[in-house]
Amino acid sequence: MGPLPPGTDDRAIWDIWESQFTLPCVTVADELGLFRAIGDQAMTTGELATALSVDERALGVLLGGLAALGMVEKRDTRWSATPPARMWLHPEAEGYWGGFLFRFRETIPIHADLIAMVRSGKRPENKVAGGPEWERGTMSAEVARRISDFMHAHSMGPARGAAMQPVFGEVDSLLDVGCGSGVYGIEFARANPHMAVTMLDLKEMVAEAQKHVDAAGLQDRVATCGLNMFEQDWPTGHDAHFFANIFHDWSEETNAILAAKSYKALEPGGRIFLHEILMDDDGCGPWTAASFSIMMLLGTLGKQYTLPEFRTMLEAAGFEDVRACRSGGGYYSLVSARKPG
Ligand SMILES: C[S@@+](CC[C@H](N)C(=O)[O-])C[C@H]1O[C@@H](n2cnc3c(N)ncnc32)[C@H](O)[C@@H]1O
Repeated sequence: MGPLPPGTDDRAIWDIWESQFTLPCVTVADELGLFRAIGDQAMTTGELATALSVDERALGVLLGGLAALGMVEKRDTRWSATPPARMWLHPEAEGYWGGFLFRFRETIPIHADLIAMVRSGKRPENKVAGGPEWERGTMSAEVARRISDFMHAHSMGPARGAAMQPVFGEVDSLLDVGCGSGVYGIEFARANPHMAVTMLDLKEMVAEAQKHVDAAGLQDRVATCGLNMFEQDWPTGHDAHFFANIFHDWSEETNAILAAKSYKALEPGGRIFLHEILMDDDGCGPWTAASFSIMMLLGTLGKQYTLPEFRTMLEAAGFEDVRACRSGGGYYSLVSARKPG
């Protein structure tokens, strides 16, 4: 007996932590009157946002969660409540559960944050994901350590899954943009002995990553680079750029800036990789992506994207051959594209 080394299948722990968003999705929708509105007629996200006087972007993320839970469905562009929702969650239904769910509005803290977010479109002052800290472009050593510890645990399984993908056998030098604790860069170097890795992040964060590199004894092949990825030029000469859980922190407009900076710094033929949990193409789940998207809504300026959304962002920057495959035994996918040349 005793501890085991990490594998790539971390689905059990992901299912547990994401379960915190299940009930708040429903209590928030109930309080907003969503099940009555689209229990009576199908509406687009924009029409529903107007009817409920809520923020359209935040409502879109909530609807993705409710669809994954089987409470709403989308046909063409219009949402409607499903039969279970019309039976148990429509306020005029004989079997309406509102009287029961009502109590949990007060006892579940995420309810208050999520409903405030959906109503106002403004992120609550919570500290879940670290977004507010890194958006300032600087952070204290203590905050960097906390975010690094948080991301290290969360990314260990996905990093092992990504590092074993055969495509990285063709990459000799990799730039890991927004490296966090360095867990990805270290796993890439371990799994690919030919590869040199540069890990880029804000300077306070690369100080944390450097501690992990030193502990792993990989100083000869893994370097760190402290810079602001929006404000400074990126190092050049890498075969590929890798972004894990970066695009999901930002809006489409900000991601366009990152894609353009990557394109500029890569040589012709260079590759870009995104490691993300993808929403289905129709935005209606799966729950793992939809609930992660709720966390992004509450803690960052982004959300979980679909492959078509990533294709639009990457092709607009000039990349081609955008594709995705699942990586490892967890929920992550590896999106890849190439700079022509
Ligand atoms: C969600 S974490 C991802 C960390 C790591 N890639 C992972 O998946 O474990 C986002 C990372 O982006 C970094 N970041 C945010 N803004 C940045 C900026 N302007 N320049 C460089 N890095 C930045 C943060 O410091 C943080 O480490």
